[in-house]
Amino acid sequence: MKSFAFRIALFFLFIPSPAQSQEKGIPAGLAADFIHAVVEAGRTTYSKQVVEHLTRQGALNASENWEQDQTLLLPAQFLSMSSKTSNSRGIGMKYRLMSLWPLNNHNAPRSQNEKLGLEEVVKNPDQPFTWIVPREGRWYFEAIYPDIAISITCVICHNNHPNSPKTDFKVGDVMGGIIIDLPLGRRTEKNVDEKFQLAPEVVADYVHSVLESDRTVYARHVVNRLEEQGILHSKEKWKNEKALMLPAQFLLNSAAAIKSKRLGLDFRLISLYPINPQNRPANEFEQNGLESVEVHPIRPYIKHSKVGRKKYFQAIYPDIAVTRGCVNCHNGHPGSPKKDFVLDDVMGGILVSFQLP
Ligand code: HEC
Ligand code: HEC
Repeated sequence: MKSFAFRIALFFLFIPSPAQSQEKGIPAGLAADFIHAVVEAGRTTYSKQVVEHLTRQGALNASENWEQDQTLLLPAQFLSMSSKTSNSRGIGMKYRLMSLWPLNNHNAPRSQNEKLGLEEVVKNPDQPFTWIVPREGRWYFEAIYPDIAISITCVICHNNHPNSPKTDFKVGDVMGGIIIDLPLGRRTEKNVDEKFQLAPEVVADYVHSVLESDRTVYARHVVNRLEEQGILHSKEKWKNEKALMLPAQFLLNSAAAIKSKRLGLDFRLISLYPINPQNRPANEFEQNGLESVEVHPIRPYIKHSKVGRKKYFQAIYPDIAVTRGCVNCHNGHPGSPKKDFVLDDVMGGILVSFQLP
């Protein structure tokens, strides 16, 4: 069975998918690129603007036993916690960080295909390794993106960690990979190559799930925990201070990181009651969408549009007051036009947009 699966994988690697030209769908490989970009943006924001910022300010470090030590989570732990949050929602897509030489056995490959995939990205780190695999009667698209030792700190910590099975990592080495697993549905071996794509609504749900998980982990396990322990506070003007950025700023920083990748993927945080006037709805669609998710918070508000020959997809998801911190800060902020938010209220929306191929 395993070798069969891998044969299928190779088969698809060499045959360009005819489905790429099909209307309105997003090729699975592009969907995985979007998801990977959002995962990377969240981790980069966390490691550069939270961990490195607070270390530079002499305020707080990151450590493995962060709960006990009352410190910051390591970036790998941030990613793992966010992926657990997203994976537990049962939306179909799953992602996680893993390695052939894991410090935590939980991050080891879980199948022969995952192991082979990791070996491939170690050999050829310039592109993700992708394949298709059947599991319990369904087909899945899987992609592994290399995770590279971009700085000497990665190397020093891993090489010296008592659980590390490998002690000679160098800067630039592939240390592991991020795997993204996308369900394609029930297909026979014969027609699987014809539908190599996902509906834009589904892809937007996946992107939104990663964003939402990152911000929830940041709000709960960084901001709320450290504020409750009286260790640090979040502030709008955090840059030159021993302070954490606001949860909204975390999302905006990730959005800026995504934009620079030029994938055609973009997101914003908007509201009918914005503290920052720049976050108010920019057009009728955004206004209608915010009004809609306020009363129908289960269903995102979507739109297909065309500008010249380019086609776009947009979806607005409700942004909910998940902690008391959201409510207290907004109600008490001098710039807030609304002072009576309560827990679980829809406070605004997350707008996800991308260009359709
Ligand atoms: C201060 C120590 C430290 C630093 C710095 C560090 N890591 Fe890790 N890394 C860990 C720990 C601890 C884990 C296991 C986390 C867990 O429990 O899931 C981990 C997990 C990982 C994993 C998943 C596989 C595994 O080993 O469990 C990868 C891949 C990884 N790190 C890559 C990196 C890269 C790339 C960098 C630099 C950008 C980096 N790490 C920086 C400590 C560190
Ligand atoms: C410590 C204060 C603080 C906390 C905590 C906080 N926010 Fe905000 N929030 C702000 C500020 C300030 C802005 C404006 C940021 C900017 O300049 O774009 C903002 C922006 C927003 C926006 C965009 C619209 C606007 O008001 O400009 C939404 C939606 C939002 N926050 C929701 C939330 C949610 C949901 C939470 C909890 C997960 C939360 N906020 C936690 C202060 C806070």
